[in-house]
Amino acid sequence: MSSSTQNPQSPKSPQSPKGKATSPAPAAAPTPLSAEAQDAAGILPATHWTEQPLPEEDVDDGASSIGSFTSTTASLSSSIFQYREVHGRTYHAEIGNAESWEPNDQRHVDAMEIFHHAILVHMGGKLYFSPLEQKKVQKVLDIATGAGLWVIDFADEFPNAEVIGTDVSPIQPSWVPPNVKFELDDCNREWTWPENTFDFINFRFLNGIVDDWYTLFRNAYRVAKPGGYVESYATGCRFLCGDGTLKEGCALEQWGKVYQEGGRKLGRTFAVYEEDLQRKGMEAAGFIDIEFRDIQIPVGGWHPEKEANERGLWWKLAIEGDLEGYINYLWNSVLGWTPDEAKAFTRYMRRDLNDPKIHGYFMARVAWGRKPE
Ligand SMILES: C[S@@+](CC[C@H](N)C(=O)[O-])C[C@H]1O[C@@H](n2cnc3c(N)ncnc32)[C@H](O)[C@@H]1O
Repeated sequence: MSSSTQNPQSPKSPQSPKGKATSPAPAAAPTPLSAEAQDAAGILPATHWTEQPLPEEDVDDGASSIGSFTSTTASLSSSIFQYREVHGRTYHAEIGNAESWEPNDQRHVDAMEIFHHAILVHMGGKLYFSPLEQKKVQKVLDIATGAGLWVIDFADEFPNAEVIGTDVSPIQPSWVPPNVKFELDDCNREWTWPENTFDFINFRFLNGIVDDWYTLFRNAYRVAKPGGYVESYATGCRFLCGDGTLKEGCALEQWGKVYQEGGRKLGRTFAVYEEDLQRKGMEAAGFIDIEFRDIQIPVGGWHPEKEANERGLWWKLAIEGDLEGYINYLWNSVLGWTPDEAKAFTRYMRRDLNDPKIHGYFMARVAWGRKPE
């Protein structure tokens, strides 16, 4: 069950229900992919990135000042704030079976805030596409809310609604509108809200954190009020290209492949768009009037059209806000790269993101549907 972040629970046992150590790493020494598995996934060996001269680092990302990719395993005091540390970055304390691949330190929270803006830009300034009626919306749930900005903005727009945001990390601000509440909860555990509770349930950007998308939408269906809406924003994990400028073996091309394998090993897919999970999950749960909007995001600053270019620039800014944080856990703790290999990869990735000759893009999908009355 969830717990309010204003009222922290007592410290958890240092052992998870699975009997794992408190480190969020799936095992003390992750098993790297076999050469065969790497070949099958089209992933270059991790050593590829350290065996050649590194690109010039022309962007000071501040990573050195916060000690990313150093190997320490200190832990803080016992509480929900007992964050776990992996190569210099902190991750949520023990909660359910959660194993978030995203850090929860300030640098990453800052990047999440940029993402909030980037997603607003994709969605034309809107927080949702569902046809919500201001007067009817009384209770709203945002699963895995991250920095909590969606909840705060939504609560401002719907001052008469109670808006609840959940996450495994208590990283949300405490100065919030009075109709906002944040709770600690693992979305993969049993949902304990009563059925028919919410007028609107939002799943934004849950790539790589959901055990089973069918169960997620079934849970949403149960707790949605009749006539209530569920909405999901998710992306694909691979960069695509329409003109051959995204070459096989470059960091941008490898990024999605490594994410996909990391998600497979973690048991929580990143390929939500590619696997069409929003449509399948909503249909299987029983939602009706399902609609979709697919958005192309040309990453970087290469697209000739102003609006598309702006979408891509914001995305690049958000990723670059914490490139190391986006790969630290997956590359190192899940896939077994060394910190040096992962750091070298980020140098190539940054170079590709800033190369206007590479016309990479990826897809995001917003899907929404209604529970029958
Ligand atoms: C990509 S962020 C998205 C944040 C937010 N929804 C947004 O769109 O800005 C994913 C969030 O999921 C949270 N998370 C990871 N595993 C979770 C779990 N099992 N239950 C709830 N939240 C989880 C992470 O802490 C992180 O804040």
